[in-house]
Amino acid sequence: MKRPLEMAHDFLAEVVTQDDIVVDATMGNGHDTLFLAKLAKQVYAFDIQEQALEKTQERLNQAGLTNAQLILQGHETLDQFVTEVKAGIFNLGYLPSADKSVITQPQTTIEALEKLCRLLVKGGRIAIMIYYGHEGGDIERDAVLNFVSQLNQQEYTAAIYRTLNQVNNPPFLVMIEKLERYRHG
Ligand SMILES: C[S@@+](CC[C@H](N)C(=O)[O-])C[C@H]1O[C@@H](n2cnc3c(N)ncnc32)[C@H](O)[C@@H]1O
Repeated sequence: MKRPLEMAHDFLAEVVTQDDIVVDATMGNGHDTLFLAKLAKQVYAFDIQEQALEKTQERLNQAGLTNAQLILQGHETLDQFVTEVKAGIFNLGYLPSADKSVITQPQTTIEALEKLCRLLVKGGRIAIMIYYGHEGGDIERDAVLNFVSQLNQQEYTAAIYRTLNQVNNPPFLVMIEKLERYRHG
């Protein structure tokens, strides 16, 4: 069975082409930025920690990729950089190798999600990896589930992929797709 992060990548890879603009909302060590840079025309990657940009730039250099713009700003400002997006990924929580008190926050995460949903092209997708074992993680998890559950079903499909028998708050995946055609009724 696929792990949630593998599922997240496969979910995005199914729709992203070399013509597409995509967003990595939480750059961290750059694993998702690298993954997306191999698939897309241009990646816009966000993080609020300088360390994330350094690590990610190193990773991209090693792979010889130059199609990612690394932005030292919160993902809630993504609408300043992109107008149409084919796919986006969020990895919520903290960066394991850095200051664990720097975590994604419900209010800015929802603001970024709202904006990304609006800028998503039809057929576009968002993958959200939810880590919630840390302090405050349960509040952000619930805020995201609440936001996603209320998306208009005529415009979006939202789904969840989660193991049912693992201990220690295993991360899980929330997927959003903007429908090709508005569904009436
Ligand atoms: C779980 S880590 C991301 C891991 C990353 N995807 C990777 O492949 O290594 C979460 C990241 O979100 C960042 N972060 C926290 N608040 C943010 C915000 N408002 N906008 C963008 N990134 C933020 C943290 O600095 C941290 O690096």
